[in-house]
Amino acid sequence: MTNRPATVPTAAGVTTTPRAASPVPLMDPARTYPLWGPGAEQAVLDVLRSHHYVKGPCVAAFEEGFAAATGTTHAVAVDSCTDALYLVLRAVLDARAPDQREVILPSFTFVATAGAVVNAGGRPVFADVDPETFNLDPRAVAARLSPSTAAVVPVHIFGAPADVPALRALLPENVFLLEDAAQAIEATQGGRKAGALADAATFSFYPSKNLAAAGDGGVVTTEDAALAAKVRALRDHGQTRKMYDHEDIGTNSRMDEIQAAVLLQKMPHIGAWTAQRRAIAARYDAAFAGTKIRPQRVLAGSDSAWHLYTVRVADRDRLREHLVAQGIGCGIYYPHPLHQQACFGRFAPDACPETDRLATEVLSLPCFPGLREDEQAQVIAAVLASK
Ligand SMILES: Cc1ncc(COP(=O)(O)O)c(C=O)c1O
Repeated sequence: MTNRPATVPTAAGVTTTPRAASPVPLMDPARTYPLWGPGAEQAVLDVLRSHHYVKGPCVAAFEEGFAAATGTTHAVAVDSCTDALYLVLRAVLDARAPDQREVILPSFTFVATAGAVVNAGGRPVFADVDPETFNLDPRAVAARLSPSTAAVVPVHIFGAPADVPALRALLPENVFLLEDAAQAIEATQGGRKAGALADAATFSFYPSKNLAAAGDGGVVTTEDAALAAKVRALRDHGQTRKMYDHEDIGTNSRMDEIQAAVLLQKMPHIGAWTAQRRAIAARYDAAFAGTKIRPQRVLAGSDSAWHLYTVRVADRDRLREHLVAQGIGCGIYYPHPLHQQACFGRFAPDACPETDRLATEVLSLPCFPGLREDEQAQVIAAVLASK
């Protein structure tokens, strides 16, 4: 006997072979390429032929467009979100005494958030997250606040806004509030976009992000003209008035013209892509309601950008094995809490038990523009079939 699938007559009377369910990827940036690829190919060619590769018109246009899109006044384009975080924190911490440079941040985030604190001369103070929103718990932040606190960095994890108003309400005036919005372009809270919720914000255009460059890229947004000017100088070796005139020791963290040219082609689509992510997330939420699968909760009055659709489930590893066997892409973000990482051990981090539990229970499912409805159904069926 062979394993050949049975043939099925269609309405048109043609006999076809039913398509075996094909694998569903966790993400697939190629799906949107027809929408922006041809324009980007031409735009990159135009930059190459202009021979204007840095500090050119594409970066200027991108900064203007990004500020408008986030409802902010200043956007400073840099070469990654890691550097965006570093440069804002440099600007904030340089103005504080060395023993006044504590920065409170979640342990449940990508390492860049905490690495930037240390590289900017600060001391990371890890706080725990809320078990349902997976975002910084304001009560945990209140418990970690001290006269040495210079800044707090809520991360809008997986695209869902952290509780910025609650954080603002408990912080003294002199504590800087910086959104790590690396994953949260187009997220909203109280009718305002991520990027415009705190004193400044940082975004990532890493290739897997909702708005992705053809390489690395990042941006800082803020209403503070002095901060924007300082970040602008620091990204370019501390130069301000003229070349070879250095007021600060900065670094080279300029965005390339080619990356800005690609981002300019993709920007007009980000609204529609986010709407698709939201529709998929709503369908999953409805399907998993009342089951053992607990999706990330989004705060009332907020809208997530759904960079990742992430659930928590007690027997996560069993679910993951089941999905992999069914050809469903899934991923664990993040398997190792930062307060447990060797590189931060010298800061003697306090316990973050909710983060420890989350790291063993989270699983991210396919949720990206271009994910077909039959694939969404396949994901739902596979998750619900898991024992
Ligand atoms: C929460 C968070 N912060 C910062 C970063 C760093 O971004 P980049 O890769 O652009 O440096 C990332 C990237 O994955 C991130 O997810």
